[in-house]
Amino acid sequence: MTNSPHRFDGQIAIVTGAGSGIGRAAAEGFAAGGAHVAVVDIRGADEAAAEIRAAGGKAEAVTLDVRDGKGWTALADDLVARFGRIDILVNNAGIAVPGDRAAEVAEEVWDRILDVNAKGVWLGMKAVLPQMLAQRRGKICNVASTAAHIGLRDAAAYCASKGAVLALTRQAGVQYASRNVQINSVSPGTTMTGLQRDVTEEQRAAFLPLTPIGRFAESPEVAAVVLFLCSEGSSFMAGADVSVDGGMVAL
Ligand SMILES: NC(=O)c1ccc[n+]([C@@H]2O[C@H](COP(=O)([O-])OP(=O)(O)OC[C@H]3O[C@@H](n4cnc5c(N)ncnc54)[C@H](O)[C@@H]3O)[C@@H](O)[C@H]2O)c1
Repeated sequence: MTNSPHRFDGQIAIVTGAGSGIGRAAAEGFAAGGAHVAVVDIRGADEAAAEIRAAGGKAEAVTLDVRDGKGWTALADDLVARFGRIDILVNNAGIAVPGDRAAEVAEEVWDRILDVNAKGVWLGMKAVLPQMLAQRRGKICNVASTAAHIGLRDAAAYCASKGAVLALTRQAGVQYASRNVQINSVSPGTTMTGLQRDVTEEQRAAFLPLTPIGRFAESPEVAAVVLFLCSEGSSFMAGADVSVDGGMVAL
């Protein structure tokens, strides 16, 4: 169970892609800090929420595809009806597909990657922003990637999608900053999660010399920055991106 140095008592948090990896670690951290967490995923949400509850935290599973705009509205309406507020949204759900090269990637695959990784982030923000603006308080953390900053091999649609996340975070961060809704992003480097399942050992080894810290991240190390960006400590941040990549983008 990921812990949290921050307190989120009484807050309502939504974390997408929380059935595994970075999202799951973040959901655990919010719950450890006292939040009630909506654990959103297309798979694994029940198990992740049950584990949080077994550890004494507050969590509920929501099986939702982040591409489903109506599903997003229903989730936001339901949380507002029951709790009267939504304090935190972490748009973390994301996919990568092998063989994603500009000259070859199938149109259907391009659309799927852009829809999940970029449109899903916008739909999530669109669903919660009316409530956050009405309550004049909200924190949104979008999960981008080093792929938004540098060209990664075999990741054409993926890089494009994460570039969109970065640009949207910057734009929306500026748009709503004066209304006390803070929108920022994190850009993880290689993190040992299920997303790496399609990456060969050889490909992963090629990233190691590009990672000054000399190893890859574990999910709680990325989640720690997500938790900070959603905590009181980030009170003067808006439209910012924080690299959590062992120094890769600084290299
Ligand atoms: N692992 C890395 O090396 C790495 C690096 C940079 C950025 N990221 C980003 O971090 C985020 C989390 O990925 P992870 O590494 O924890 O991988 P992961 O595969 O463990 O977790 C991603 C989760 O998103 C869920 N998901 C996929 N499509 C969905 C959809 N349409 N609707 C709802 N949920 C969906 C999956 O079921 C999964 O549980 C992603 O946005 C990813 O692009 C990961």
